[in-house]
Amino acid sequence: MDKLLIQGGIPLRGRVKARGSKNASLPIIAAALISAEPLVIEGVPDLLDVRTMIAVLESLGAAVSYSPEQELVRIAATKPPGLEPPPCLVRQMRASFLVLGPLLARNGKARLSLPGGCAIGTRPVDLHLKGLTAMGARFTMDNGYIEGETRGLEGARIYLDYPSVGATENILMAATLARGTTVLENAATEPEIVDLANFLNSMGARVSGAGTTTIRIEGVVELGGARYNVIPDRIEAGTLLLAGAITGGDITVENVLPDHLKSLLAKMKEAGATVEEVAPSAIRVRRCGQLVGVDLKTLPYPGFPTDLQPQFMAMLAISRGTSMVTETVFENRFRHVAPLLSMGAQIQVEGHHAIVQGRRYLTGAPVSASDLRAAAALLLAALAARGVTEISEVVHLWRGYSGIEERLKSVGARIQHLKREPYPSLQTGG
Ligand code: EPZ
Repeated sequence: MDKLLIQGGIPLRGRVKARGSKNASLPIIAAALISAEPLVIEGVPDLLDVRTMIAVLESLGAAVSYSPEQELVRIAATKPPGLEPPPCLVRQMRASFLVLGPLLARNGKARLSLPGGCAIGTRPVDLHLKGLTAMGARFTMDNGYIEGETRGLEGARIYLDYPSVGATENILMAATLARGTTVLENAATEPEIVDLANFLNSMGARVSGAGTTTIRIEGVVELGGARYNVIPDRIEAGTLLLAGAITGGDITVENVLPDHLKSLLAKMKEAGATVEEVAPSAIRVRRCGQLVGVDLKTLPYPGFPTDLQPQFMAMLAISRGTSMVTETVFENRFRHVAPLLSMGAQIQVEGHHAIVQGRRYLTGAPVSASDLRAAAALLLAALAARGVTEISEVVHLWRGYSGIEERLKSVGARIQHLKREPYPSLQTGG
């Protein structure tokens, strides 16, 4: 398996650019199934998860071409798409479930393997199904598959018990072609929801209120073509900002919307980092003295994002004093604690809480990543640690961070990518 070797203790200095948003690109690519017209989506980062979503659309019959250099995807689902993507793809990436709403809207039918749980939790889809059922879809489940059918989706008033990002996205996409108006209450308000709604409206949908807890969708007969540019990735930008702070450096991150990171920037300032917006889409972070521990609680947007909790905890591990980290979004998102302990961190997990006793420094060690953001946390810890850290299972990183080691090296990081040795070909008998 691929590994990264990181020589820590080097303050990172310079400018680095964030890529387009993974979590906006994935639902937007899925939404392309709703239209029969050609679509061009720009600012799509070259990530494993993006490649997987493209493979899902191709398996459903859409014509897709991707130029990683231009970060541009062309999609045309001219014919009505197929009903069932390969189960291996859906199980490989939970976000594949986001084709459910588009397929019900376009075909009136879909058959998907239920997305398994993953490293961070069971991740049910009950809220997706409850909302789509309210719109007239009927679901049957058998040995790990879910089949959905409708004679035509109807607008409905839906209240989400929890502001689920994925459920909001599936219902929003399905409602664009429903007969009548759908009102979705207690909806997720993440910037990626707004980006999806803007993309759908550029195709001719009638969505209003995205970004607030109440989204209104007036169904239309069909969606057309569009050209759209995806928003910057706030989680990747936040990870790069934390790299500057944790290494005691001076980093300016470009292609970031400060408005999307208010909770992170406030917490970084509270912890003693110097954070300033140096341009409408650039933020500079510096850290001279020692950081101080702060309490942190993850919440749906605009609260502190769960996707930056592991990375922030890595920084708290070398911040003076005691910090309490509370994870309210996922039930098992402390998988990064064990490897951090092996680097000398002092962290005690009690249910949804992690109590972090800051240390003066961490020391490099061989560690293994369990999921995407845990891998990012270990990368940050390694950049700050004394000595060399070897991170294995680093493939998780490629799911959400395109070429991040090259960008970190451009601001002084010492990272070596040890590619997996191909298994020696079996010597067949002569
Ligand atoms: C999206 O996942 C993101 N993924 C996640 O990012 C992110 O952590 C999460 O939103 C929260 O912000 C993408 O956008 C592709 P949820 P999603 O539905 O939609 C429970 C990353 O690292 N829930 O808001 O799956 C669920 O179990 C990934 O980029 C139900 O109970 O998140 C969880 O506890 C990780 N029933 C909570 O809601 C449902 O039907 C939040 O889940 C749906 C969700």
